[in-house]
Amino acid sequence: MATFKEAPANASAAEKLLTWVDNRFPATKLYNEHLAEYYAPKNFNFWYFFGSLALLVLVIQIVTGIFLVMHYKPDAAVAFASVEYIMRDVPWGWLVRYMHSTGASAFFVVVYMHMFRGMIYGSYRKPRELVWLFGCAIFLCLMAEAFMGYLLPWGQMSYWGAQVIVNLFTAIPFIGPDLSLLIRGDYVVSDATLNRFFSFHVIAVPLVLLGLVAAHVIALHEVGSNNPDGVEIKAKKNAAGNPLDGIPFHPYYTVHDVLGVSVFLLIFSAIIFFAPELGGYFLEYNNFIPADSMKTPLHIAPVWYFTPYYSVLRAITAEMMYVLMGFVVVGAALAVLKLKMSGLFKVLIIGAAAVVVAMMFSIDAKFWGVVGMGGAVVILFFLPWLDYSEVKSIRYRPDWHKYLYGVFVINFFMLGYLGVQPVSPLGERLSQIGTVIYFGFFLLMPWWSRLGAFKTVPDRVTFAAH
Ligand code: HEM
Repeated sequence: MATFKEAPANASAAEKLLTWVDNRFPATKLYNEHLAEYYAPKNFNFWYFFGSLALLVLVIQIVTGIFLVMHYKPDAAVAFASVEYIMRDVPWGWLVRYMHSTGASAFFVVVYMHMFRGMIYGSYRKPRELVWLFGCAIFLCLMAEAFMGYLLPWGQMSYWGAQVIVNLFTAIPFIGPDLSLLIRGDYVVSDATLNRFFSFHVIAVPLVLLGLVAAHVIALHEVGSNNPDGVEIKAKKNAAGNPLDGIPFHPYYTVHDVLGVSVFLLIFSAIIFFAPELGGYFLEYNNFIPADSMKTPLHIAPVWYFTPYYSVLRAITAEMMYVLMGFVVVGAALAVLKLKMSGLFKVLIIGAAAVVVAMMFSIDAKFWGVVGMGGAVVILFFLPWLDYSEVKSIRYRPDWHKYLYGVFVINFFMLGYLGVQPVSPLGERLSQIGTVIYFGFFLLMPWWSRLGAFKTVPDRVTFAAH
């Protein structure tokens, strides 16, 4: 048993209480490790606001969610009406509901910014691979959470969006039809689907999400934060053993983050009070019509945060399959011709390429669309092992790397925009080009990330006091 500490005789009642707690639970130890003695680089910039903001939005979603559940009814016959009841009759119900619906979009804005920061500063690289992997798992959970939550208001878009996405699973060979039946609990989206999505949305996924967020932050605090220079601050320490370029998270960054929180809350409130539907992007207009299984809306589009991936899905047509097969063949040929590897490996690569091409011929494009859509998210998990750049941060990479990241961002926006639009020949072509750029960026990264003249990374972080 650990030895008990004694509070000094002249200690206040609060100090005595804390000593009593500390002897039984590591309160002070945790506070020191994660706040007062957690040394974070002193050169954090704008991009570093989004981690704490993601935590804030997580709390907002959980708290507003708890209050919504008090009045919401997960029953296909009354779900839509119960949401209307919350909006019109429950005191402050409209505010709670708008906070939750705006919070869902805000979550994705914040998390996309947070992920982009990780990409440009190489925060996913050694030793932060697990921080990134936990982050990617969080992103997957967040998508599942948003997708299932969207069914709950039981509007036309809830219903038909779920119908489209769950039907996609039927394209998976062998298990597809049974799998979608299992997800729906019925042959079409119905009351059974609503009940299971409700159960997952309010308890199963949030539990996993909370666990992952805890793991994400613990992993980060184990290795320490990266920073805009990509310099490891633990490499240079003072006599006390603290990083020379580090400052205690509390009070410096707690105060700093208050600025981010204030600006965020200003924008968040402005949207809630003045434009909660945000032109149909945050709350789609068709979702103000109750679900009707006999009337398919003319144009079914997911909410904006899914649309880049939805574009990838729609881009993979039967025609596009030939292009993809071409990429597999050329990729395999280049690997065999250019890379140094044993004969056995070469045979394996040729064999694998032949199997993939044969599968592409025999399974229809819908399935590969689903693979493309899923792959666009899954590929993020591999980022730490795709980037071979000499330096972490974009600051010290060749300038053309910056333009490449610029192209990636514009392309991601383009895919997002196309995903909200109805299908058109031009849109289809553009989303196919966009899909090739998206995957090309990641799959060719082991090659392009080493190229160019890198700048010298300073020993210490660059910081101008302000
Ligand atoms: C609920 C969602 C999330 C929460 C609450 C969250 C929270 C945090 C917090 C509090 C930090 C430390 C502060 C900061 O560096 O900004 C952090 C860092 C980090 N997060 Fe997240 N995060 C979330 C999602 C993600 C996702 C989806 C990814 C990537 C796929 C990710 C990747 C990272 C990385 C790489 C770092 C270290 C950054 C650095 O040190 O430069 N996070 N996260």
